[in-house]
Amino acid sequence: MIDPLSPYRPDALAGHVAIVTGGATGIGRAIARGFARLGADVCIASRKPEALAEAAATLGAETGRAILAVPADVRNPDDAARVVEATVARFGALDTLINNAAGNFLAPAATLSPNGFGTVVDIDLKGTFHMCRAAFAALSASGRGAIMNITATLHYHGTPLQLHASAAKAGVDALTRNLAVEWGGAGIRVNGIAPGPIADTEGMRRLAPGDAATRAKAGIPLGRFGAADEIAAAAVFLRSAAAAYVTGTVLVVDGGHCQNQPMMLMQS
Ligand code: NAP
Ligand code: COA
Repeated sequence: MIDPLSPYRPDALAGHVAIVTGGATGIGRAIARGFARLGADVCIASRKPEALAEAAATLGAETGRAILAVPADVRNPDDAARVVEATVARFGALDTLINNAAGNFLAPAATLSPNGFGTVVDIDLKGTFHMCRAAFAALSASGRGAIMNITATLHYHGTPLQLHASAAKAGVDALTRNLAVEWGGAGIRVNGIAPGPIADTEGMRRLAPGDAATRAKAGIPLGRFGAADEIAAAAVFLRSAAAAYVTGTVLVVDGGHCQNQPMMLMQS
């Protein structure tokens, strides 16, 4: 595959400062790597200190840039504030927030416990709110604030075993639209990125175990799973001056998966 970041200049994000929640693993790690590779200063924040330390060291070696790692739980508003404070203290400013942290599992709605439902809503939806709220002043002060909320396409239709995550991501998309309207005047653009099935991620391991992955691939018009670097490339676009007039939208990066509604006749 052609490197999805190759169309960008090596200094495309020089001078930018970004926070990536959940940036030690999977899609968030690819976004953090992509931003650092193109010259941005990057803070990654998530719960497990060992995973953060490993990611900061590896990404630093891969990109030649120092990566700030701040242990934090986005469900805690004080942690969210601490991540922003540490980033501004280290890099002098903040202009980009990528809300990627999430939790998910397969569970039937009929037996899903209230705490199971609430936990996913707390991480995905309330965590995104906490981070946006904590970052508002710094993003506004930068004069070129941009928020990218990593969402999904689950809630475009009824997705079995995904009531909790669908409700949470629908809420995230509502935050995206609302904040784009409220914060446009503060110089902050707010957009979403909705990945389809992305290879070699925890999300895929949990949601499409075993031969479910093979069946999922059959429903993707482009005939393959996505790569985490393809989500990073979308995030770079939405951060960059190329997207200076783009706000309040969700960019779907899914190989056409969510558009695929096989006709009943074709299934017989
Ligand atoms: P992942 O590797 O498990 O990423 C989730 C990250 O969030 C982890 O680094 C995790 O680290 C962090 N996290 C979880 N709870 C947290 C909390 N309370 N506070 C702070 N950080 C927390 O999964 P992924 O597959 O790359 O998913 C990344 C994003 O893409 C998610 O928003 C997901 O919904 C979205 N997405 C993924 C796919 C896919 O195919 N993979 C498809 C559609 C959408 P800790 O456990 O150390 O906190
Ligand atoms: N099926 C049904 N319920 C589940 C579940 C599953 N597979 N996994 C967890 N739960 C429920 C728990 O039973 C608990 O509810 P209860 O108190 O009524 O029993 C509730 O969810 C919280 O679980 P807990 O393990 O205490 O939460 P946590 O805060 O430690 O972890 C999770 C959060 C559950 C989302 C965990 O899977 C996680 O940390 N995920 C991060 C990585 C991830 O999900 N990546 C994929 C992103 S797409």
